[in-house]
Amino acid sequence: MGDVGAGPGMKQRLQTLTREVLERIDAAGSEEALEAIERTDLARKGELLGMMRGIKDLPAEERSAFGQAVNEARATLEAALGSKREAFLSARHAAETADTRFDPSEPSIAVGGGHLHPITRVRREIEAIFMGLGFSVVDGPEVETERFNFDLLNIPSHHPARDMQDTMWLESGQVMRTHTSPVQLRAMMRANGKVPLRVIAPGRVFRNEQQDATHEHTFHQVEGLMIDEGVSVADLKGVLTLVLSRLFGGTVEVRLRPHYFPFVEPGFELDMRRAGSDDTWLEMLGCGMVHPEVLKGGGMDPTRVSGFAFGMGLERLAMMRYGIEDVRWMMSGDPRFLQQF
Ligand code: PHE
Repeated sequence: MGDVGAGPGMKQRLQTLTREVLERIDAAGSEEALEAIERTDLARKGELLGMMRGIKDLPAEERSAFGQAVNEARATLEAALGSKREAFLSARHAAETADTRFDPSEPSIAVGGGHLHPITRVRREIEAIFMGLGFSVVDGPEVETERFNFDLLNIPSHHPARDMQDTMWLESGQVMRTHTSPVQLRAMMRANGKVPLRVIAPGRVFRNEQQDATHEHTFHQVEGLMIDEGVSVADLKGVLTLVLSRLFGGTVEVRLRPHYFPFVEPGFELDMRRAGSDDTWLEMLGCGMVHPEVLKGGGMDPTRVSGFAFGMGLERLAMMRYGIEDVRWMMSGDPRFLQQF
């Protein structure tokens, strides 16, 4: 025994066999084909294991190395078979689950989260600031009577002041409120003469206006009203300076310019700028001391109490805050606009 030439010949054959079987595994097109390879090439009676049995015929010094080589070849082929089987298996699973209605292992489709409209954000900030100063947030109807929208606010019919606000009239004789000021009256009437009364009333208002980049037929205001004994213009200026400073961050400086509103006396337009700067003044809101006739109409005694009121547009504020150029985008509902906030 001990055919010396058999060593190199068998080693070569082992290498060739391993390569051939690897190629067959690689080319196998189905799980059945894989099983067939396993049954023949890796079977007990197959060529590879036959080589194991031939080891005893090798020279003693070659046996151990050759045995190891056969074992390695076998491990390599078994690993190749295993991973190919794995690939068939997961392909089969994928195919099986592809047409089921619900696959709980699928990651869900990302649904974009909703968010607040810029007007809502500004409104909530303002509400929070005023609530911190002891004001309550109140509400009033958007469809108003002529009495609340005009008469009780010292704007009688045929008074030229009615033309200051182009009005949408309903066939019923009611109006779409042109401002949030009627809520002043509703709040006073609810208070029943009791002071202090501190409220703000945010909401939608409507004007029969030609639309352009700074005018909308539907927009938002926040009305403010504070009534107590001895309320003065100093209180008006102090409260609004504080609120605007909190809203814009840092300290702002305000100035009051005389302006006519029928429901206040004196009436002002309030401008603001960063304190100590020489920035141009920005017109922010209308305000003034509540007219004695308006106090009376709301059930307050003007000889005992006084108050200030203001009305501020939210669109302007949001446009300044977020750098929005056209007010008509606000209510457009256009996702290309809304997604930016
Ligand atoms: N209601 C006024 C307007 O819409 C604003 C305002 C409110 C002015 C309260 C003074 C006091 O123009």
